[in-house]
Amino acid sequence: MALADKDRIFTNLYGYQPWNLAAAQARGDWDNTKDLIARGRDAIIQEMKDSGLRGRGGAGFPTGMKWSFMPKESKDGRPSFLVINADESEPGSCKDREIIRHDPHKLIEGALVAGFAMGARAAYIYIRGEYIREAETLFAAVAEAYDAGLLGKNAAGSGYDFDVFVHRGAGAYICGEETAMIESIEGKKGQPRLKPPFPAGAGLYGCPTTVNNVESIAVAPTILRRGASWFSSFGRENNKGTKLFQISGHVNTPCVVEEEMSIPFRELIEKHCGGIRGGWDNLLAVIPGGSSVPLVPAAEIMDAPMDFDGLRALGSGLGTAAVIVMDKSTDIVRAISRLSYFYKHESCGQCTPCREGTGWMWRVMERLRTGDADVEEIDMLFNVTKQVEGHTICALGDAAAWPIQGLIRHFRPEIERRIAARADVREAAE
Ligand code: NAI
Ligand code: SF4
Repeated sequence: MALADKDRIFTNLYGYQPWNLAAAQARGDWDNTKDLIARGRDAIIQEMKDSGLRGRGGAGFPTGMKWSFMPKESKDGRPSFLVINADESEPGSCKDREIIRHDPHKLIEGALVAGFAMGARAAYIYIRGEYIREAETLFAAVAEAYDAGLLGKNAAGSGYDFDVFVHRGAGAYICGEETAMIESIEGKKGQPRLKPPFPAGAGLYGCPTTVNNVESIAVAPTILRRGASWFSSFGRENNKGTKLFQISGHVNTPCVVEEEMSIPFRELIEKHCGGIRGGWDNLLAVIPGGSSVPLVPAAEIMDAPMDFDGLRALGSGLGTAAVIVMDKSTDIVRAISRLSYFYKHESCGQCTPCREGTGWMWRVMERLRTGDADVEEIDMLFNVTKQVEGHTICALGDAAAWPIQGLIRHFRPEIERRIAARADVREAAE
């Protein structure tokens, strides 16, 4: 089940070798890129569809299908654009950072190949403001690619003209939402747009645009070189390929690692993290896909396949595969309350259920944390999360609601215990 070294796409994930162009070429990047492009747009998109790659930014939308939404011909002379989402801000997520730090040429070559396949004139890589050194690396890697003739006019000798621009964000989580990102690149306040229209119809500067995550783009050249059947030989139906997992929290050795999709949770942690701190009996719960997905209690996740369907079946999700492990020393109510504060802080405020709901949910979560709430408020809070979920412009509303739902679903006795303990203290003081 576990991935062999020869099947890893990110061979420099830990930076044992330099990131620069010469080292990247020695690892196989930019190897006859023009031959990949010579296959033609339709063939590239078909290969990506056949590979089964699903978007690695969290939503898991099929990548090849997304590229196929782009117009074949320019309408009204409008250019098309590729926007690469490097605004990695999901708590727990740090895989795109490693790609940019140590393997930026995989991303830049991927931008050219993907941009060509969707008929894009240029790619904008939107990198989160806090990634200062990573942005420096990216600027330098893009400059190297221009100097070597791999970007710009007749990019990589392909006959295709393609530019790559690096755009730095300024620290707002919401700018990772694709339409807020587009607004931000346009120089406006980063607020999500109503969808539809989806960016493929009207995106950057009103032009057809595809927004893809860093990992989705960076794996594309290897998929095309090694073939769709190679990539789809990993994982299982509907959950194909290799995947970067980012494991943090109460494991013995936290890490970012490329593994086969669908690897069971226990195997992932044993093999790469040296097990749970204090042993498996000490595991309390896991947030398997970054802070936007509900937690899963220890007993349920042990043998779960770490993929889109396996985690959805547990009422959670793969998200960005940012696996946050919590042992029994964790104050689980406090942890989820802290996440609630995060979403309240990051709400852009343009729609009422999110603007008002995130603050409201956080304040009740704080009262549950201290035990100062009434027991009836647990159900009331759950109902409020249901009013927010699905009733907002973007997914931030859902992301704020789901962790609380997971907490109430799985840890209600702990919340009730706190309320009872606090009532006892109050009674004793009277
Ligand atoms: P979504 O499911 O609305 O869309 C996914 C993608 O498919 C988008 O690019 C969208 O334009 C496209 N799409 C969907 N339906 C379409 C249609 N009918 N026609 C054309 N295109 C279509 O999800 P969204 O809001 O883009 O992402 C939410 C996810 O992002 C969450 O599940 C969360 O895990 C993840 N996330 C990741 C973060 C990170 O740091 N990587 C930060 C925050 C959230
Ligand atoms: Fe802004 Fe929240 Fe509405 Fe998203 S859901 S648009 S973050 S107010």
